[in-house]
Amino acid sequence: MIELAPSILSADFARLSEQIDCAIRGGGTIVHVDVMDGHFVPNLTLGPPVVRSLRKATDLPLDCHLMIERPDEFIPDFAQAGADWISVHQEACRHLHRTLTLIRSHGVSAGVVLNPATPIETLSEVLDMVDYVLVMSVNPGFGGQKFIPRAVGKIRRLAEWRAREGLAYRIEVDGGIDVETVGEVVRAGAEILVAGNAVFGQGDPTSNAQKLLKTAREAALLKV
Ligand code: DX5
Ligand code: ZN
Repeated sequence: MIELAPSILSADFARLSEQIDCAIRGGGTIVHVDVMDGHFVPNLTLGPPVVRSLRKATDLPLDCHLMIERPDEFIPDFAQAGADWISVHQEACRHLHRTLTLIRSHGVSAGVVLNPATPIETLSEVLDMVDYVLVMSVNPGFGGQKFIPRAVGKIRRLAEWRAREGLAYRIEVDGGIDVETVGEVVRAGAEILVAGNAVFGQGDPTSNAQKLLKTAREAALLKV
């Protein structure tokens, strides 16, 4: 099932719940929350208090993408704040199995994220314990960057791997997703589409979201 996860990173933070409502009206079904610590990535965003407020503003799943070092120290706080999904970067976790186990112990869906330079093979020992894999199609840290095409091959290979091993993880893609790029990632097997700039960058978030989803669903029909 194709789903759109609007990324609030590009939204107007002073009007966050209003902006989220607009994106939901356009078909968004997951709220993507980018958490940055100024260490793992060169930018700062938000923490558990904002997630707690978002929890009151929407019933949709809150998808917390942790771009932080030492995620184990913060996972319990994000879970208590109301995160439904938490993903951690493979590159930030020295003990990835332990970290994924910690996420699951809070009853939260667990995801693992790959930077553009990290091969999918680095996940071979944990793919059976994740609910989703997030493929970065930009280097994390900022919205509005250019899509890196090699992500398409990674998505395709993750879909093939899942079929071959009889696994169930979902495939999410994040970075530079717009009406030009969404078709190829969907045809490769991406199901959860994160979009920040394409939804909130300019114009009306509702019609932006609608257009993006329509393009994605048309591409899904063409998938072989
Ligand atoms: C980037 C974040 C993304 C970002 C995507 O580090 O993880 O979620 O919001 O923004 P766009 O869709 O503008 O590339
Ligand atoms: Zn993200």
